[in-house]
Amino acid sequence: MKSARIVGLGKYLPSKILTNADLEKMVDTSDEWITTRTGIKERRIVEKGVGSSVLAYEAAKVALKRADLKPHDIDLIIVASITPDNQFPSTACYLQHHLKARRACCFDISAACAGFVYALSCAWQFIRGGLYKNALVVGSEVLSSITDWQDRSTCVLFGDGAGAAVLTASNKESFLSAYMGGDGSQAEILILPAGGSRISASEETVSKRMHYIKMKGNELFRVAVRVMVQAARRVLKQAELESQDINLFIPHQANNRIIDAVAKRLNMPLDKVYVNIARYGNMSSASSAVALCEAWEEGRIKKDDIVVLDTFGGGLVWGSCAIRWV
Ligand code: UT7
Repeated sequence: MKSARIVGLGKYLPSKILTNADLEKMVDTSDEWITTRTGIKERRIVEKGVGSSVLAYEAAKVALKRADLKPHDIDLIIVASITPDNQFPSTACYLQHHLKARRACCFDISAACAGFVYALSCAWQFIRGGLYKNALVVGSEVLSSITDWQDRSTCVLFGDGAGAAVLTASNKESFLSAYMGGDGSQAEILILPAGGSRISASEETVSKRMHYIKMKGNELFRVAVRVMVQAARRVLKQAELESQDINLFIPHQANNRIIDAVAKRLNMPLDKVYVNIARYGNMSSASSAVALCEAWEEGRIKKDDIVVLDTFGGGLVWGSCAIRWV
């Protein structure tokens, strides 16, 4: 077996919908501002107390069924999340337990919105190296748990959800290339300031609302466009492809204006760009996972198509990968 291919995709979105009209009643905002500045109309929110592993479990069950594999067949589980159930143990361990996938080794990846691409690339390499045969990769987030519902500059952006992919060893070359980058010098642009080892939880951190996402949106916007373009160009070059070879481009769903700017710079016609931000907002690692699954469900991905995922997020991190749908 020379490589890995995706044999099953799944997604889970909580049923509760929070619309822009609902947000108008919570903070000083408007449907018009949110729609024109971001493209978001509504997002999904879990019931309080539901952790990322539960969403991951629901998405994973669908992906495994479509892959025609049982939990016992899985030997590697990677969960990408910035909203793990707990700081430890890993959400992948909880997912393994929910699934009863007792043979699987499990670990989490913290690469924010690029997490699903990072995790896919890891699983691909583990399988390609011969260590594992079947891998389950999940992007799962409960961003509502770290969203400051009093901060209009961030609370309109995020949503909850999960997407899953099952990869299996294959002689067919499906993953054509991957590229991941990072820049820790810009960590403060998008950060959850407290709750880690540097600034542990205290009455002061709670009263200063330091357990919620803090974001310098404007600065992030500029970097996002630049590095997403750079990442996509890099994977295309590595795979010896041109942008016109892409059948479906799946960018991170952070902002419609970022997506448009990236697509324009890559000369990608918008009918080849998958966008679902209006319905779900930004779900960090779950965004590209859900988008990939949904695009496949809608018949937007056919055999031999070239699909490129292109992501960017807090860290800062970015990652892109090119997949031939075999
Ligand atoms: O997933 C990780 C990656 N995330 C990103 O890449 C996000 C990147 N950034 C963005 O998407 C955009 O910067 C935002 C959507 C976050 C903000 O859009 P913007 O066009 O950059 O707006 P801004 O922050 O420059 O704010 C413009 C104005 C400000 O008012 P003044 O100072 O001009 O009077 C804000 O106070 O809009 C105001 N504003 C709002 N008004 C109504 C900010 N948030 C809101 C709001 N409703 N929700």
